[in-house]
Amino acid sequence: MSGTEATNQEPWTILRLLQWTTEHLKKTGSSSPRLDAEVLLAEARKCQRIELYTAFAEEPNEEVKSKFREWIKRRAAGEPVAYLVGKKEFYSLTFHVAKGCLIPRGETEHLIIECLDRAKAIRQTEPSRRLEIADVCTGSGCVAITMAKHLPNASILAIDISTDALAIAQANIDLHQVGETVRLVQRDLLDGVDDNSLDFVLSNPPYVSECEFSNLDKSVRSHEPKIALVSGPSGTEIIERLAAQSANKLRSSGWFLCELSPMIANNVAEILSSSGHWQDVGLVKDLAGLQRLVVARKK
Ligand SMILES: C[S@@+](CC[C@H](N)C(=O)[O-])C[C@H]1O[C@@H](n2cnc3c(N)ncnc32)[C@H](O)[C@@H]1O
Repeated sequence: MSGTEATNQEPWTILRLLQWTTEHLKKTGSSSPRLDAEVLLAEARKCQRIELYTAFAEEPNEEVKSKFREWIKRRAAGEPVAYLVGKKEFYSLTFHVAKGCLIPRGETEHLIIECLDRAKAIRQTEPSRRLEIADVCTGSGCVAITMAKHLPNASILAIDISTDALAIAQANIDLHQVGETVRLVQRDLLDGVDDNSLDFVLSNPPYVSECEFSNLDKSVRSHEPKIALVSGPSGTEIIERLAAQSANKLRSSGWFLCELSPMIANNVAEILSSSGHWQDVGLVKDLAGLQRLVVARKK
């Protein structure tokens, strides 16, 4: 696709571009080279991925090829596909993403599933109650906005400390038109929130330890914001601080649902259980069978 290959007589059809790029990205370390190639080519061509399959023999125009070439160069250097195309799907919704915010992950959809289950149970006994939900460490706003789409008459406070993340979350609130349900604020965790005011605290906080950070995949370590990933020396610092605040901010029987890594899951569950503030402390596994969420109900 570059240098000597560009002079090759064989045309750069969609099929040939995909085949060449898949091999190239495989060699440069992508764990999903074919998918990356398809997503980037579809985006450069402004079409759906599926449409590439019915156009294998077509040769894209120079503008498409040049955009695709630039993205492949950056992808091969480790830049995540979501930052290149500026968007990512989460719980079947599309979100703007950019360097200032973490790219939403599939594992985080468990927060939505667990919260919706509990919210629906509350609705069955108290149908007119307006649920008060805080999404702490909102990043792109994917959790808060998805909840707003599914619980339109809830009141959702979306909190982040990062100005860059807040700007992207605001763009997503506008995109999904949930400004009446989601209120975005810049805070350190739950500082300034009224005591006994919340039904749910949801969070996907930073939970990577300093030491784990150096072992993260290079494309995460070099491109996603460190403030979104690292909690401190042990990885539990932010979750511990958030759990302690949540014990005051939640109403009695309110739920604390927090994403974590399997490395700290048992430790966090033990900290919550022994604090005396929580009942029904449990761990939820993700689709890979790894402990991914801690759930606890305020006594
Ligand atoms: C792991 S990301 C989660 C983003 C988003 N909720 C998601 O699941 O994709 C963590 C977010 O926490 C924010 N953050 C870090 N420390 C914080 C603090 N003390 N108070 C509020 N937000 C914080 C970061 O800016 C980042 O956006």
